[in-house]
Amino acid sequence: MADLSDLLQRSKNDEGFVSRNFIQISDEEFELFRKFIYRNFGINLTDAKRALLMNRLQKILKKKGFRSFKEYYESIQNDKSLSELSELIDAVSTNHTFFFRESTHFDYLVNTSLPELIPRITAQGQKDLRVWCAAASTGEEPYVIAMLLMEYLGKDYRNWSAGLLATDISHDALNTAMHGIYSEDRMSQVPKKYKHSYFDKIGPDQYQVKEHLKQEVLYRRFNLMNETFPFKKPFHVIFCRNVMIYFDQVTRAGLVQRLYDFTAPGGYLFIGNAETLGRNETKYTYIAPSIYKRSD
Ligand SMILES: C[S@@+](CC[C@H](N)C(=O)[O-])C[C@H]1O[C@@H](n2cnc3c(N)ncnc32)[C@H](O)[C@@H]1O
Repeated sequence: MADLSDLLQRSKNDEGFVSRNFIQISDEEFELFRKFIYRNFGINLTDAKRALLMNRLQKILKKKGFRSFKEYYESIQNDKSLSELSELIDAVSTNHTFFFRESTHFDYLVNTSLPELIPRITAQGQKDLRVWCAAASTGEEPYVIAMLLMEYLGKDYRNWSAGLLATDISHDALNTAMHGIYSEDRMSQVPKKYKHSYFDKIGPDQYQVKEHLKQEVLYRRFNLMNETFPFKKPFHVIFCRNVMIYFDQVTRAGLVQRLYDFTAPGGYLFIGNAETLGRNETKYTYIAPSIYKRSD
């Protein structure tokens, strides 16, 4: 017989309260979702993520009146509008991020990548610096990059076409990013002078990204699992941080190859500090932990 604490544990919802309406996921249902999520989003859910998946999907099941995970699964399969699919990824994806996360990358960008890339692009008679933030989440990372580009180029910024493409698969995350509203506690890593120049205080503990910074970031929904990337030109800098941790080796290798194909010669790839690329996994040249470069 199952132990009481075990039963309670298994029927806790997201907030930790025990609910009588909690719907359990069977082995077969977990397998269906696991395969589906892997195929569509590249996210590799191990057995350890079973409870997490079950908890996160409860709200959707309740809202839509599904009595089982199988019913929900079938509804996703039959939904031609793909809205069910996007609701699923919103629930499954982990959007944890913060301003100036893993800041050594930003130091490297400002102290090494930009001083190298700007004269190089200028020498080619161009003034277009193409930067892509490929797992932008709720916007903190792309706004940091955009602020640094503006600060670095200073008055010359307006002569450059130096916008930033920021993509993510999650609608919810992108919505937050586009609104650009952050609570005071999420702003603690933002230096005072940046807060002053790039944010408006809109409430007792709320800030909003100023329009002139927002305009520099182009948000688009994009699934990194897409086999073909729809970009016209390669990027000089790609940030693809803390998303590959959710992918297995095969998925990661495929993605890194596609990123490489869209990196301009001499361009940089930044990945998360907890992520590594095996030597045989990439054509990029290793520069420093989690920093890679495409040679000429
Ligand atoms: C943990 S956040 C990382 C955010 C930010 N790059 C950072 O390092 O702080 C991971 C992001 O990857 C996104 N993501 C997961 N799978 C994806 C996919 N297949 N295509 C695009 N984005 C994906 C999630 O929606 C989430 O916003």
